[in-house]
Amino acid sequence: MNKRSVIGTPLSPSATKVMLLGSGELGKEVIIALQRLGVETIAVDRYAKAPGHQVAHRAHVINMADGQVLRALIEQERPDIIVPEIEAIATDMLVEVEQLGIAKVIPTARAAKLTMNREGIRCLAAETLGLPTSPYAFANSLDELRAAINGKIGCLGIVKPVMSSSGKGQSRIDHAGEVEAAWSYAASGSRVNQGRVIVEGVIHFDYEITQLTVRALDVDGTVKTHFCEPIGHVQVHGDYVESWQPQAMSSVALERAREIARKITDNLGGLGSFGVELFIKGDEVWFSEVSPRPHDTGMVTMCSQKQNEFDLHARAILGLPVDASLQAPGASAVIYGQLEAQGIAFAGIAEALSVPQSDLRLFGKPESFKRRRMGVALANGVNTDEARSRAKLAASRVIPIKE
Ligand SMILES: Nc1ncnc2c1ncn2[C@@H]1O[C@H](COP(=O)(O)OP(=O)(O)O)[C@@H](O)[C@H]1O
Ligand SMILES: [Mg+2]
Repeated sequence: MNKRSVIGTPLSPSATKVMLLGSGELGKEVIIALQRLGVETIAVDRYAKAPGHQVAHRAHVINMADGQVLRALIEQERPDIIVPEIEAIATDMLVEVEQLGIAKVIPTARAAKLTMNREGIRCLAAETLGLPTSPYAFANSLDELRAAINGKIGCLGIVKPVMSSSGKGQSRIDHAGEVEAAWSYAASGSRVNQGRVIVEGVIHFDYEITQLTVRALDVDGTVKTHFCEPIGHVQVHGDYVESWQPQAMSSVALERAREIARKITDNLGGLGSFGVELFIKGDEVWFSEVSPRPHDTGMVTMCSQKQNEFDLHARAILGLPVDASLQAPGASAVIYGQLEAQGIAFAGIAEALSVPQSDLRLFGKPESFKRRRMGVALANGVNTDEARSRAKLAASRVIPIKE
């Protein structure tokens, strides 16, 4: 029996232990998928009662950006596998933990480090791998930003802090008068206030997709790359509001998208799910960014695939075989908090679930903000148009209220 086919008993000396760094809605689903396979799970986040904390064997609240604190928790818990679920982690410490053989880091510590900073992953994609991307430049000051916009980028541009996610600190410049505001906004939205931004030329795409890509071991022990059907999505202010699968694409565009996804994931290496974000115009495809983990737009796979992106991730990181095939056209629509309050309630659940072929996930986040993602509605249909309208209808019937 080879070692990767063995899983122990949770809470016993034989346990197979996995630690999630970041325990939001995506981490919660990875934990559930792992628990179904009899894995012992440890959920870590920066705040108490995070979604993943509520379903794991043990929960910890620490500052994951503090390398010493992170190392101490890893030494205490001794996980076999560490799964970064967010970007804001002391990735240099993960590199050390991996090098010392203390635990396996998913997909690799290098991938976690490269993708936490837009500069690392963009330079790898565009300069090392030669993938098509938007024109881009980096700036450390307002003057450098102005120079980049007037020079390499031209007039239109999107400014993003190099360290940020979910559209935070991101703004679009349509004329010269907006540069200063974009600079200040980026500084306020940066996760680590580095004061460094990327400015990208705007790609006028027809649509954008997430190409979920899974690196998993085959029966013979070699790594095989699996592609899910492409996921279409709509973003508002850099944050996803709805997604669907499959997104119809020309065969040339699909082939190019997968070639790009294969190149970037081959380079990042390791095992697990990746969300490769791509812009498409006709048959032209641009690489945008990649998450070395399940992707928020991929929540649609909870209704559209037999093995959703979380099952795929769980299986892949354990060295088990995967099936990335589509089961039925599906869609997801985000449910926002709409209120600023702790411990809110949700009315209209029965009405939402009376939409045909619909389902809900309420994440259980302890605190609601107006634009915080608190849940998601899922739906199937004969095609993605029907699935989308059902998911949006179900989401619209869920009403956040103060108890
Ligand atoms: N260069 C670009 N051209 C056109 N749209 C863009 C560009 N960069 C970002 N966007 C839009 O903003 C969204 C969020 O940008 P992204 O770089 O993915 O940031 P985040 O890391 O916060 O998800 C994208 O999904 C896309 O809709
Ligand atoms: Mg993105």
